[in-house]
Amino acid sequence: MNRTLVLLLGSSALAATAGAAAAQELNLICSADQAICERLVSEFEADHDIDVNMVRLSSGEAYAKVRAEARNPQTDLWWGGTGDPHLQAAADDLTMEYRSPMMEELQPWALEQAETSGYRTIGVYSGALGWGYNTEILSEKGIEPPKCWADLLDPALEGEIQIADPNSSGTAYTALATLVQLMGEDEAFDFQKKLDANVSQYTKSGSAPVKAAARGETGVGIVFMHDAVAQAEEGFPVEVVAPCEGTGYEIGSMSMIAGAQNEEAAKTFYDWVLGAEIQSMMPEAGSYQIPSNKNAKAPEAAPDLSEVKLIDYDFAEYGSTERRSELLSRWDAEVGGVGN
Ligand code: F6P
Repeated sequence: MNRTLVLLLGSSALAATAGAAAAQELNLICSADQAICERLVSEFEADHDIDVNMVRLSSGEAYAKVRAEARNPQTDLWWGGTGDPHLQAAADDLTMEYRSPMMEELQPWALEQAETSGYRTIGVYSGALGWGYNTEILSEKGIEPPKCWADLLDPALEGEIQIADPNSSGTAYTALATLVQLMGEDEAFDFQKKLDANVSQYTKSGSAPVKAAARGETGVGIVFMHDAVAQAEEGFPVEVVAPCEGTGYEIGSMSMIAGAQNEEAAKTFYDWVLGAEIQSMMPEAGSYQIPSNKNAKAPEAAPDLSEVKLIDYDFAEYGSTERRSELLSRWDAEVGGVGN
């Protein structure tokens, strides 16, 4: 082979490789459960010529990563996790405006999230906060199952409750913001300080407490109700509770990162994951949230939100940088920092 031909072949091979790599990568943060994160990636890769590098991070951790990378984004798309940190990322200009052609198929609550953020985030699923308790543990120990937030302060539950840390977990931040909206801020902190006596562990991930309850490691896990349903569906002795005083909920969200290196691949995933077919598949991976696509089939086992007393959760306020930072600092100072 002459030298020119070798050089030409070499350079076109290089160009093909470089072109393929650039067109075929997507760096994804996934903030829902590992099983659904992995399932989405494998379904997407089967349908597209794009390699997905996925990392699973809790909502607050994901926000921190996106913020830390602001000058040199390593992430293209952030799917799932509670809406509050997505709204905070939008307000901080860490995410970019995108109006997907799929928007017309979405529920009003998913679009409200988009409007609140100037179309920098959008709703992908929703679910209400509550808890799951292990029926066997509570009955063996003779503990009355808690039905209301107030019941969680029962001294009989000492060491029997787990909830996540609101700094890392969107679930626990939703709980914190819910209590503030239900009771008023000072009363909510007073409640959490008392609750602390019954809490054995503040976990990193939001759904870990009910997984621990399912396996008999704790009596009660404060989580989104759909995460408790997932354990009951797996056959564990878990009863799901919607607190009697009322409760908050999440609009699980998705955001494209400002300055994403793989913007086209991110848009492809974004539009695809809003589709009815993909959202209808979520229960197969143990995810029982309410889907945001109007044509998607809601899981039969999903909690019926019309029977849950939902508060009028103020996403704009509790997703704002000032309010979220202020509440987390107060939690660190008054609840999480004390002996934990
Ligand atoms: O497990 C699923 C889920 O509860 C989602 O509905 C929610 O958005 C996410 O986990 C929150 O996780 P974390 O509390 O770890 O941020």
